[in-house]
Amino acid sequence: MTRTDQDGLTVIDHPLIRHKLTIMRRTGTSSAQFRQLLREISLLLAYEVTRDLPLEDVEIETPLAITQKKQLSGKKPCFVSIMRAGDGLLQGLLDLVPSARVGHVGLYRDHDTLQPVKYYFKMPHGLDERHVLVVDPMLATGNSAAAAISLVKEAGATNIRFLCLVAAPEGVKALRDAHPDVPIFTAALDEGLNEKGYIMPGLGDVGDRLFGTK
Ligand code: URA
Repeated sequence: MTRTDQDGLTVIDHPLIRHKLTIMRRTGTSSAQFRQLLREISLLLAYEVTRDLPLEDVEIETPLAITQKKQLSGKKPCFVSIMRAGDGLLQGLLDLVPSARVGHVGLYRDHDTLQPVKYYFKMPHGLDERHVLVVDPMLATGNSAAAAISLVKEAGATNIRFLCLVAAPEGVKALRDAHPDVPIFTAALDEGLNEKGYIMPGLGDVGDRLFGTK
């Protein structure tokens, strides 16, 4: 696993992630394969994003001895899905951290103002004491991610990271401008946005591909 960190952006690079992402990008990939691959990649990404979770000492008894070892300290981390595509990332994250809490943010884009509007918001208690990871597979314009993170901050979170699968440079800039305190992690940084706001070359509409809708 190699990481390229620059100005709050970490690209998590690994041959397995690249290979799986290439299959996801192909038009012929079925929804079932797409979902499974996203689950597998999100598990690999979660491994890297959780690398510096704090630990504490714990005394345990093995069949042979009493010993001091480490365990995660503090409140359980919280994964926040930006619906609906964010839900595709949740499964792999929860495979790795089954005890994590999960929050959901639902946003739609107002046709007149083009701004994200909240239609659903549910968070676990004690957000201020949790490591919060906001997830959405595609960081395109950055508007939804920035709005979701503002809501999560209003709900009390102070320690926030953002995880996506593919980012566009425009989205990275917008999110860094709006929330310079929130580090961004991605599996790939693509070329940019097309006129409809899709990431190029990207992988199309992730929600539709995940759930077989059109
Ligand atoms: N959302 C998607 O699902 N795909 C994109 O390319 C951009 C936003």
